[in-house]
Amino acid sequence: MQGSAYAREEALCIEFDVRAGDVEHGGMASSQIKAALKQFGLSEPVARRAGIIAFEGEMNLIVYSDSGGTIRVCVDSEYIEITVQDFGPGIEDVDLALTPGYSTAPAWATDLGFGAGMGLHNMEKNADRFEIHSRLDEGTTISCWVKRRTDDSS
Ligand SMILES: Nc1ncnc2c1ncn2[C@@H]1O[C@H](COP(=O)(O)OP(=O)(O)OP(=O)(O)O)[C@@H](O)[C@H]1O
Ligand SMILES: [Mg+2]
Repeated sequence: MQGSAYAREEALCIEFDVRAGDVEHGGMASSQIKAALKQFGLSEPVARRAGIIAFEGEMNLIVYSDSGGTIRVCVDSEYIEITVQDFGPGIEDVDLALTPGYSTAPAWATDLGFGAGMGLHNMEKNADRFEIHSRLDEGTTISCWVKRRTDDSS
């Protein structure tokens, strides 16, 4: 899997395309994202939180999106910003989707161990700021921000 890197204003960004249904490569984009963040000099706890967010977003693109989507990670002086976007099918009830344990995962995904209904909750929990916008038939965009520096990391 090949990510593309570019500079955006004061931030450095890396972007990955994720294919719908491509469970065989599930976790590849997020592990490359985590490795890139560590290589960039971010602490293990911070890279791990960003990696968890990217992983849950990546798996949701694989399991739920109609035609795949993108994960974009941008690092500026203060934050890692992780944006996961797809163009359908969208989420009918976002509050319900955020409820731990709620899942509409198909059998092929639960057979592989996905579908605990914890992914979005994990994304929210690991983010310092979390936003989700979704419209039925249009798509879903999730943005998460992780502070580069925390009290327990230098
Ligand atoms: N990108 C998306 N497009 C459409 N629906 C989504 C999307 N992401 C999540 N959902 C919906 O929200 C529900 C909850 O998602 P969440 O990631 O929390 O749990 P899960 O994917 O079902 O299980 P887990 O992530 O624990 O394996 C999903 O079951 C699905 O109905
Ligand atoms: Mg999930």
